[in-house]
Amino acid sequence: MKTQVGIIGGGPSGLLLSQLLDLQGIDNVVLEKHTRDYVLGRIRAGVLEHGFAGLMREARCGKRMDTMGEIHEGFYIAHDGTRDRIDLKGLTGGNSVVVYGQTELTRDLYEGREKMGGKVIHNANDVKPHDMATRAPYLTYHNGTGTVRIDCDYIIGADGFHGISRKSIPRDKIREYERVYPFGWLGVLSNTKPVSPELIYAKHERGFALCSLRSQTLSRYYIQVPLTDTVDDWSDDVFWAELKRRLPKDVAKDLITGPSIEKSIAPLRSFVAEPMRYGNMFLAGDAAHIVPPTGARGLNSAASDVYYLYHAMLDHYRNGDDSGLETYSEKALARVWKGQRFSWWMTTLLHSFPDSNPYDNRLQQTDIEYLLSSEKAMASLAENYVGLPF
Ligand code: APR
Ligand code: PHB
Repeated sequence: MKTQVGIIGGGPSGLLLSQLLDLQGIDNVVLEKHTRDYVLGRIRAGVLEHGFAGLMREARCGKRMDTMGEIHEGFYIAHDGTRDRIDLKGLTGGNSVVVYGQTELTRDLYEGREKMGGKVIHNANDVKPHDMATRAPYLTYHNGTGTVRIDCDYIIGADGFHGISRKSIPRDKIREYERVYPFGWLGVLSNTKPVSPELIYAKHERGFALCSLRSQTLSRYYIQVPLTDTVDDWSDDVFWAELKRRLPKDVAKDLITGPSIEKSIAPLRSFVAEPMRYGNMFLAGDAAHIVPPTGARGLNSAASDVYYLYHAMLDHYRNGDDSGLETYSEKALARVWKGQRFSWWMTTLLHSFPDSNPYDNRLQQTDIEYLLSSEKAMASLAENYVGLPF
């Protein structure tokens, strides 16, 4: 088989790029290790920058997002028994975010690919990129009966943090930066009315908590937990009780509880691999970088990679101009690192660190007080939260 762009990974990054390229007549194939149901079974974050929403519309996959997604013009930071609102719209001169679940968004992208007759191959086993440093790279995978070879101009590694593409780059050609945090997030999804129409990020001495939502009838809540905890340690009742303890009293009294329909624990990690290119293979999304979810940057950082790659590919195939491909890694990383900084800062501001001393705690308290007393500090938070320009 032959194609122009071979994409490893059918998550949001791979699917969005595939759809955008196909609409421009650039032939591509997506190789996804799992079934579509498996990919859609993963519950992940759901806050989109308008830049991302724009890309979804450009990919002709924005209809459901525009009807079912919610525009959020602010969120709350809860601390010391009270809460302050971050007025995203006022602080950014009119900007906001779209709250729309990644599961839904991925479903829309799959439907978009299906409608266009896009080539998305599921259950592609043992995918391997070959000869990436040459002008004739190719992919192989097993389809159950034998090995299939796909020759391509370019390979895109969009196969997430645990994927094969980054791991296929020789160790001396890539550098990895990492911070692992000493806690995780326990997430619960429930068919209940959200406690607040806008998100609440809560700092509490017992640990961070987040009140988020997927719609006005579907809530998503998180609490910080030790890495040693398992889901079995947290019955629904124990979870709700702990969440209430970490919220201001006036919020906790309005919390509607119900059976969890999903419960999982995710560790928090910051990670970047540089450069995001090896020969004719380009990395995008979680394959190259991940952030702790506190700043809602993960999916949005992936989207900016897709934006840069898409435009670089267009310039190459339409105008024979390779400057976008040549500068892709540098441009993408500049924005990636800003997302890293912001996510690290939000995480440090709001979580309880098991090894922190009284001095660290006073600094953290001062950081919150300064933030909420300074219009300029809040404007900086808001500017990063709604997303820096591409
Ligand atoms: N071969 C083929 N596919 C693979 C392989 C492999 N060896 N390894 C992983 N995959 C697939 C996974 O099954 C998954 O569907 O690649 C996909 C990667 O998807 P994500 O992990 O969702 O990564 P990405 O598409 O970059 O999505 C952006 O930003 O922070 C996040 O939560 C956010 O997941 C979202 C991400
Ligand atoms: C979510 O709704 O899952 C969510 C929202 C905001 C975050 C992280 C996760 O910062």
